[in-house]
Amino acid sequence: MKSSTGLQLDTVSSTTPSRNSPPPPQFDTPTFLMCAPQWYDVDYVINPWMAGNLHRLNRDLAFAQWRELHRQLQLIADVRLIPAVQGSPDMVFVGHTAVVQHGVAAVSSFAHPERRVEEQPVRRWLKDHGFLLWETPRETAFEGEGDALFDANGKLLWAAHGVRTCLQCHRHLAQAWHLPVVSLHLVDPRFYHLDTCFAPLSGGHLMYFPDAFDAASRVAIENAYPEEKRIAVNEEEATAFACNVINIGETVLMHKVSSDLSRRLGRLGFDVVQIDLSEFLKGGGSAKSLVLRLSDIQLQAEIAS
Ligand code: ARG
Repeated sequence: MKSSTGLQLDTVSSTTPSRNSPPPPQFDTPTFLMCAPQWYDVDYVINPWMAGNLHRLNRDLAFAQWRELHRQLQLIADVRLIPAVQGSPDMVFVGHTAVVQHGVAAVSSFAHPERRVEEQPVRRWLKDHGFLLWETPRETAFEGEGDALFDANGKLLWAAHGVRTCLQCHRHLAQAWHLPVVSLHLVDPRFYHLDTCFAPLSGGHLMYFPDAFDAASRVAIENAYPEEKRIAVNEEEATAFACNVINIGETVLMHKVSSDLSRRLGRLGFDVVQIDLSEFLKGGGSAKSLVLRLSDIQLQAEIAS
């Protein structure tokens, strides 16, 4: 079904659960979805990091690194797994397939045909686990948590455009949760997803790489986060995917950074766990993109207080 706005409402408009629908999901622990790197590879180039890395992966090492992230995450959260699909080499970056909040999953419409094969299996998994699907129109590309991140208190959604996700799609996201969406414009192709350069953290902090945004977006960010809450990373840190982190309470899981960023975060009360994720940097992602949050964002902040 298409509404007058062009929005596809198949699932949400028919939300009266049928007798066969699984119950809506309930979480009392931060819960994430992961997808093992069985079929992970750099098979094509759709971001600058993949160039030069075509078929240059060490799959065993990738598996060991992914397993370590999975192990560390399991110490502080519940982790569910979705089976990897052959022919979907980027599905390991499951964070881009949707954005979930309050049991509603806004599912992605990938910009590149290479990643569209991931949409159906993830849609099915979410539906089978009781999530309501909020479809985003194919014409307006949307790449899940890659480009849409809730503030730590869940009161607003930061959404990016300029590389993958379309600006026009932001209003569809606003309708999914009836929440304000702040649009941010990405201007550096190396930071092609919001989650490569922007990370709302617990305690009202924000870690970000200012040069990835245009001037108006930087002003919007600065208006929302006072200076003492902003953790600006430098180019060396940003290109080591320093902003692509998983934050639960005080814990921050991230790829190794060579600078003193970990100490800076430590001084603000964060407990930083560095995990070597080098094989995933070859595909253009790091810790954050390897997980999809299923529980409400506030649950992560509540752990902190
Ligand atoms: N190869 C994937 C893509 O280009 C990598 C995604 C990782 N993304 C990220 N936000 N770090 O879509």
